[in-house]
Amino acid sequence: MEARIRALAAHAPEKTLSNEELTKFVDTTDEWIFSHTGIRSRHIAAADESASDIALPACRKVLESTGTSAEEIDLILVATSTPDYISMPSTACIIQHQLGANAAGAMDITAACSGFVYALEIARNFVVAGSARNVLVVATEVYSKIVNWKDRNTCVLFGDGAGAALVSPADDSRRGLLHHAFLRSDGSGAESLVRLHGGTRRPTNADSTEADLMLSMDGRKVYNFAVRAVNETILEVLEREKLTIDDIDYFVPHQANVRIIEAAAKRLGAPVERFYMNMERYANTSASSIPLAIGEMQDRGLLKPGMKLITIGFGAGLTYGGGLIEW
Ligand code: UT7
Repeated sequence: MEARIRALAAHAPEKTLSNEELTKFVDTTDEWIFSHTGIRSRHIAAADESASDIALPACRKVLESTGTSAEEIDLILVATSTPDYISMPSTACIIQHQLGANAAGAMDITAACSGFVYALEIARNFVVAGSARNVLVVATEVYSKIVNWKDRNTCVLFGDGAGAALVSPADDSRRGLLHHAFLRSDGSGAESLVRLHGGTRRPTNADSTEADLMLSMDGRKVYNFAVRAVNETILEVLEREKLTIDDIDYFVPHQANVRIIEAAAKRLGAPVERFYMNMERYANTSASSIPLAIGEMQDRGLLKPGMKLITIGFGAGLTYGGGLIEW
């Protein structure tokens, strides 16, 4: 048995925040942000919108477009590092209830910006093993609620958004075929992208500052890791699949920084035009950035049946990985 993506949809909150608007309350400039990252704007969830709220439109779209009822879903996997609640319950349970997916198991996957790649591979394995026919893979992130808006090193980089994909057996069609993904972790870099307080290592106490509770990042360290991770992932996937760079129609990397992608493409000797990038309008939406990119590619008519895509995720953990999708 093989597994395929039957449909994929993305959704971003309505409100946007441009670099120019950011300069009104953060000591930064549009010039710095765009030249260092390629970002011009990002979507921001409303005050009363959580990770599950912004994911539901994408989930419903995927179900509608495939004529699948919520009762037919066997499993819901939600990749997020900005869940509705800290540690419990899972955001997947909230989405299961909101959809009325009454025959589904539900759990969250914690792999930060590699979350969609990880969740797709878990879904593929459930389907290939024959233990699920319809797995709803969701990525949803509301980083605007976990960044420290006083820290210009991080707050300018992130945005909010969501995506969903329905993974099912590839017995009726091979469109969207998922190949065995490459997944890796380097936990030695655990604290280079972290929310330091609030877990069992450093429970929140009277001394915890706002900065301790919010996201912090050693940008340089993560940048160097990211360039290596993109290279290693692409080379591993190509080797496994016995393909070359020329065989790939699009590389769909995590949308953290245009410079990371350009540096990796240069090292690989791959044409940068084949790396799809949309961080200019969305910024870094962590686990959601790959489905937001594929959703936009679909809407723009860039994806034709049989095209070969390689996804590449990298982020906190440090996690990384990717896989081949035959569209
Ligand atoms: O999604 C998970 C994966 N995350 C990533 O992949 C992010 C990886 N890291 C990066 O993308 C880059 O390292 C950053 C975009 C975070 C930073 O770019 P950089 O070129 O590495 O800049 P830097 O950290 O070396 O900082 C250069 C200067 C510093 O000033 P000084 O110390 O040289 O005077 C910073 O204070 O830029 C300053 N700076 C800013 N200036 C204006 C940092 N942030 C800002 C800002 N506006 N927003």
